[in-house]
This record gives sequence, C-alpha cells and structure tokens, in this order.
Amino acid sequence: MHSPTLLTLGLAAAFAPLAAAHTVFTTLFINDVNQGDGTCVRMAKQGNIATHPVNLNSDDVACGRNGNEAVAFTCPAPAGAKLTLLFRMWADGSQPGSIDPSHVGPMSIYLKQVSDMTTSSAAGPGWFKIWSEGYDTTARKWATEKLIANNGLLSINLPSGLPAGYYLARHEIITIQNVTNNKADPQFYVGCAQLFVQGTGSASIPKDKTVSIPGHLSASDPALIFNPYTQNPATYPSFGPAVFFPAAPDSGSGNKQPQQQTLTQTTGVIPQTCLLKNANWCGVEVPDYTNEATCWKSAENCWNQLDVCYNTAPPSGSKGCRIWQDQKCAVLQQACESRRFRGPENKGQKLDQAEVNSALPPGGIPQAVNAGQRGDQVPVPSAVGADGAGNEDGDGEEVVVDQDLGAAPPVSEPTTTTTTTAEVKTPSSSSTAEPVPTETESGEPEERGETTTAAATLSTTPTPTPTVNSCSGSRRYRRPRRHRRRRGMN
Ligand SMILES: *[C@@H]1O[C@H](CO)[C@@H](O)[C@H](O)[C@H]1NC(C)=O
Repeated sequence: MHSPTLLTLGLAAAFAPLAAAHTVFTTLFINDVNQGDGTCVRMAKQGNIATHPVNLNSDDVACGRNGNEAVAFTCPAPAGAKLTLLFRMWADGSQPGSIDPSHVGPMSIYLKQVSDMTTSSAAGPGWFKIWSEGYDTTARKWATEKLIANNGLLSINLPSGLPAGYYLARHEIITIQNVTNNKADPQFYVGCAQLFVQGTGSASIPKDKTVSIPGHLSASDPALIFNPYTQNPATYPSFGPAVFFPAAPDSGSGNKQPQQQTLTQTTGVIPQTCLLKNANWCGVEVPDYTNEATCWKSAENCWNQLDVCYNTAPPSGSKGCRIWQDQKCAVLQQACESRRFRGPENKGQKLDQAEVNSALPPGGIPQAVNAGQRGDQVPVPSAVGADGAGNEDGDGEEVVVDQDLGAAPPVSEPTTTTTTTAEVKTPSSSSTAEPVPTETESGEPEERGETTTAAATLSTTPTPTPTVNSCSGSRRYRRPRRHRRRRGMN
C-alpha cells in the first residue's frame, strides 16, 4: 500500500491549491459528540474544488464529487439521534466561515437506506426527504442565513421510526443568488454522511416515498428559477418530494412492538485499536520490538502508516497525521536512535484525539431544526435482510417494499417479526461489533473501500486572507518535509 506511487501522488496532491469561499460539509456530530473532521463523511477528494457546487443532472448531485465512493468508516447512531452537520467555507477550517453570505437559498436533508455501504450506489433510487426549509418568514431569513447565524451548524433529529441499518444522510443546499440578465443559475452543494442506524425498527421505506437522485428536481422548477431580488422570499415555493419522517410506533395505543432483534454493524466499524484517527484513517500500535533490527522495523511501520494517513487525508485536513508523526513516529525513531530497543514505549496508549478536531464554533450546537417533529406512522415492521437494508439501493436488486404508508395502520395485530438472521444484542453498546484489527502483512492498517489519493493539506505557510465574497479564492498548501526515512536492518 505504501508504494512509491502512493507517495508520489500524495506529494503531487500536496501542492494542489485549496480553494474555498463556497461551502462543504466536513464534520458530523451525533448526539452532540464530534465524530472528527471528515470521519464518516463523503467529501470531494480534490481540495481545490471541495467547496464547489455540483451539476444538478450528474451523479455528483447525490453525494457530491467522489460521493459514490465509500469512506472507510460508518458512524453508529441510535434511531432518533440528533445529527449535527458542520459546514465550512474552508474545508480544513483554517479560516472562519461556513458559506459566503451572498449565497442564499433553501436547505434539505435526505436519507437513503443502503444494503452495502461499500458497494451500493449513492446515485439512483431510494432517497427520501426528512426536512426542508426555504425562507423563514418569522425569522426573515433564508435557510442559508440561519446556517451562518449558527456558525455553520445544522442539527436535525433522525426519525425515531427509522428502520435499523446502513444509511446515507445527504444534505442539499441550493443557492439562488446568481441571477444574470433575469436568468437564474442555481448552485447545488451536496454531501453525505455514512450512518449505521441502531435499533430494532425493521419496516422498509415505502417506495412511493422515495425518489431518484439525480432526477428529484427539474431545472425549471419554480424554486430553482426563483429570483430573490425581484420576487418576495415569503412566496418561495416548496420543491422536490414531500417529507417522509417515519415515527416510532405509538406505544400508548396497545400497538406494542413485538420483541425484535437488534442489527449489528459489521462494516465500517471504527476499530477500538485506533490510537489516533484522522478522518477515515486510523493509526494502530506498531509491533513489539526487542532489538535494534526490530526497533527500526517498527519505526518503519509507523512511517508507513503515516504515508497512508497523508495520502488519504480529505480536504478537511491532516492534523491527525502530523500528531501521529510527532507523537508516535518521531518518538519511536528517537527511541531506536537512543538504543532503547524494548518497546513500544507507552504501548497501546491513545493519542489526544481532541487535538485533531477543530474546536466547536462559538455558540455550541444548535437545537434540531425539526425538534418536536412527530412524524409519520409506519404501519407494520416487515422483514429486512441480515444486512439491515430492506429497500432497493440503486442497483436495481432487492426491492422489498411490503408496506404502503397509505394503508390504514393495523392497530391491534402485532405481527411476529420475521427478522431471523440478525444477531441479538443489547442496544446499549454504541459500537457493537468487535473491532477487527485489519492489518496487512506489513502491519499497516487496511483501508476498507477507500482508494483515495486525496490531497494532503497541511498548512504550514502563512496563508492569504480569503476574499469573502468571491467564489474563486485559492490558497497554497505545502506539505512539510515530514521525516527522514530510516531503513531498518531487515
Ligand atoms: C452565474 O450565472 C451565469 C449564467 O448562467 C454563469 O455564466 C456564471 O458562471 C454564474 N456565476 C457564478 C459565480 O456561478
């Protein structure tokens, strides 16, 4: 994995300019817990366009550029959890700002249940909208203006009745400020988080509540050709599919949920053996060493992991790589140089993850935009597969749509769940699967479903002040000369 090719690509990417001034979703919080910059987030790999809009009719409009490629980690979230998305004008947060204030328009959140996080297509059918807002006539603000007021944070509660399983959570910001000669040219900013929704809910999503993306909007939709300068924002039309928000079954009505089995996350689990995480990379302890040769071999293992860290760091940054470099590899190298050939010292000790993540913007995490939303009753749980997905995921197979929301909810007939293949687990543990230390022969952490050669974007040089109202600001990042490679004696 740490071939010269990867290293070369990483170095080449390091000199790509990183543009900003639009917006990008970089960081996910689950029930107010920061998952780490880039962790479980699908993001454009190329730093210089990471904040740029995508084309309405391309597959990129599902989860953004590179959005059809899974990242290694999928974050567990209880059903009904509060998600908070952090948006940045500069992907790595090196400059403040969430989105250019000139960019006004609506925001929406969609979900899609997928059977296989690694291979299921993001683009295609199966998407349902759980929330959307255009112009708030009370606050007299566009959704984007409220986002700015919340320091780039948007919180939303997941539906409490969401069937357990793997989901893509997609945001969609449409900005409509660009009107040239009375012709609107809306911009689309989208991205996705990879979630494993825990719980026992097992209803499938009714197919008639879902749409295909792309295909869910038309360029001629009144909302997309709306002129915010000549038309009254209070008349901003709704657009796209109706909201579908599956509520938990009503426990007060005697319509008791039958005892159900809990699904267990098996892919994308963040290993508990991570000593440090950067986005979707995780550094694990080096092999034990007992003499000079094995000491240098372990040092090499550390630097090799570092290469992967830099080479897979998304535009949200590589702070974790630098910490790994300084606090793990350099320390280990020092030990070998000092002929302390028994180690690793402080074996298994985690490095400070808090240093990796940018501080929460002032003001803290806002209330969920849909707080108090009760939702739609999903009639009866129906069987889902062992992987937790019951609906189609875009590859045209495995369409299981048993229940129609339009049907009258059966009140007194709790059906026996037919979920048979999932493991029974207590729903309390947040990371249910035993971590699989995925090490290759060289001891380097295996990347799952990740083939990124993203730019390593470590800012070491003084950076120019961003042009706030421009869409084309760019900055130059220089990757530091990070280590002298000491070859082991193998
Ligand atoms: C604004 O719209 C015009 C017309 O479609 C387009 O040529 C131009 O590139 C757009 N400008 C921006 C900043 O997107």
